[in-house]
Amino acid sequence: MYSFDIAAGSKAELYRDLHAALDALTAGESDAVANMANAASLIWQVLPDLNWAGFYRNVGGELVLGPFQGKAACIRIPFGKGVCGTAAATRATQLVADVHAFPGHIACDAASSAELVVPVIHGDALVGVLDLDSPTANRFDAEDAAGCEALIRLLAPRIAG
Ligand code: SME
Repeated sequence: MYSFDIAAGSKAELYRDLHAALDALTAGESDAVANMANAASLIWQVLPDLNWAGFYRNVGGELVLGPFQGKAACIRIPFGKGVCGTAAATRATQLVADVHAFPGHIACDAASSAELVVPVIHGDALVGVLDLDSPTANRFDAEDAAGCEALIRLLAPRIAG
């Protein structure tokens, strides 16, 4: 059993403690699936107001569903399509206040309103993306984006396979 000390104070404290917990949970483990699965679980437990949290992997230039928490989701997403495909194609974090206003958004769960997608880059390679969905519009801000980018910098070499 794992138990982590996560501060319930500011968002900065939340991401600081989440980073430390993720480091402890994945340090020394080289299996990409195990590390993505535990990362998705930890993020799901710690970050409030999510309805989906998980990974899509770059499999031969297409995003394929990886470990996640939430409802069953779309399995394959072409680069350039939807929020995840845009993050993969541009290698830039996508912070979307209202997915219904995002051209080409792929609705996997009708409850989703806001979305944050962070590309996972290791060396020159795009490993995949971290996708977070929330039922609350405007749920994610620049602090969430920076916090998740820091988590992904830690995790990238541990899920690169
Ligand atoms: N909404 C995403 C698809 C993935 S699901 O939300 C899990 C998108 O537009 O890329």
